[in-house]
Amino acid sequence: MNTETKSLAILAGRTLPKYERPYISVGREERDAVVQFMDSGAELSGFSGRAGDRFLGGVKVRELEREVESFFGVKFAVSFNSATTALQASVGALGIGPGDEVVTSPFTMAATATAILLNNAIPVFADIDPMRYGLDPQSVERCITPRTKAIMSVNIFGGSPDYDALRAVAKRHDLKIIEDNAQSSGAVYRGRLLGTIGDVSVMSLNVHKIIQCGEGGVLVTNDEHIARRAQLLRNHGEVAIDDLEGHEVVLGSNYRFSELHAVIAIEQFKKLHELNRHRQQQAGYLTARLSELDFVRPYVIPEDETSVYYVYPIQFDIDRIGLRRRTIVAALSAEGFPTPEGYVKPLHLLPLFQDRRAYPNSKYPFDQSSVSYARGICPVAERMYFESLVFTTIFQPPNGREEIDAFVDAIRRIGEYRDALRNYEQSSES
Ligand SMILES: Cc1ncc(COP(=O)(O)O)c(C=O)c1O
Repeated sequence: MNTETKSLAILAGRTLPKYERPYISVGREERDAVVQFMDSGAELSGFSGRAGDRFLGGVKVRELEREVESFFGVKFAVSFNSATTALQASVGALGIGPGDEVVTSPFTMAATATAILLNNAIPVFADIDPMRYGLDPQSVERCITPRTKAIMSVNIFGGSPDYDALRAVAKRHDLKIIEDNAQSSGAVYRGRLLGTIGDVSVMSLNVHKIIQCGEGGVLVTNDEHIARRAQLLRNHGEVAIDDLEGHEVVLGSNYRFSELHAVIAIEQFKKLHELNRHRQQQAGYLTARLSELDFVRPYVIPEDETSVYYVYPIQFDIDRIGLRRRTIVAALSAEGFPTPEGYVKPLHLLPLFQDRRAYPNSKYPFDQSSVSYARGICPVAERMYFESLVFTTIFQPPNGREEIDAFVDAIRRIGEYRDALRNYEQSSES
């Protein structure tokens, strides 16, 4: 490819075909395991909502849970039909409910915050660190009130917040830490696997994740009380507690994981280390290539930590390049790299929080709190969304270095043709 003479497709009014090939982690091993399981005539779910043998699920669900315990080196894993329901149960398992507040990040999928709200507790949004994208510990500390019971921290993009600082805040204020580890299984913070730092954590097995079984989630903890309460919340515990010793009141549901999903998840877990290792290599190459450009800020991980790069965030130095992010993204899309702007809308800006209304017929539980959800409360998260961040998955297999090079080359040419793009920007605005 002659990169010296090549211009930009957008300037020629063209759109090139998509470059990136989709990532898929399941294959022959999962298929064979499913066929073998089906041929065995086993039940598709081993759960029953009564105290007894079947209260904790079927053979495959339990096998998966033992695998997850061994992967994370923890005492208890409890599977769920999604990370969303596992997060909900983790809040409930900590005994958090009406009148309580949980400090969390606005820069995450909605499930992080709704898991708090669905327990009728109040999410309080702290800002994020502009390099790690996880919670900024100082901002968290400013959000703490006498009602705060926990910090729901998000291990976003495959990496982590500064857990030493976050744990110090939690310790000072006697708070629990829930790790939303949906995106970061296998990543390490200063010698500890993410997901094992907080009191309880949750990983996701949904279709978008590094390993997946369609839908699913697993809660992990070293605290037996949390694990037992999570099991009750998962499977209509209100019925079972009559027959259990030392029971506490619980309002359960059906958050159970199916055997068939567990069969696939077991196979996926065998691949996780290798899949992560490969992503880390490819993402490292992308970082090296992006570092050649003075108007982008690559995703740099501190030396004593790792990321598993769920996605790869890139910040543009908008002042230096002198283009709107919208123009950069349009140019990248025309080159065959469709790239979303921002990541997610910071959660406090969603109608749920702006209107302070979770139910059509009631203002509860928002009427119990005066916490602000105004624009401006989390300036870093808002800047990422409105101005500077894009993300890519171009480093994921089956894409290789050729695709990464082509992506970086497209960004390089955007810098090179910035004057022409500025004219394009002005003409498309007028
Ligand atoms: C950070 C985060 N938390 C929670 C979830 C919810 O996961 P699930 O779809 O398994 O419920 C996701 C899913 O994308 C996520 O990225």
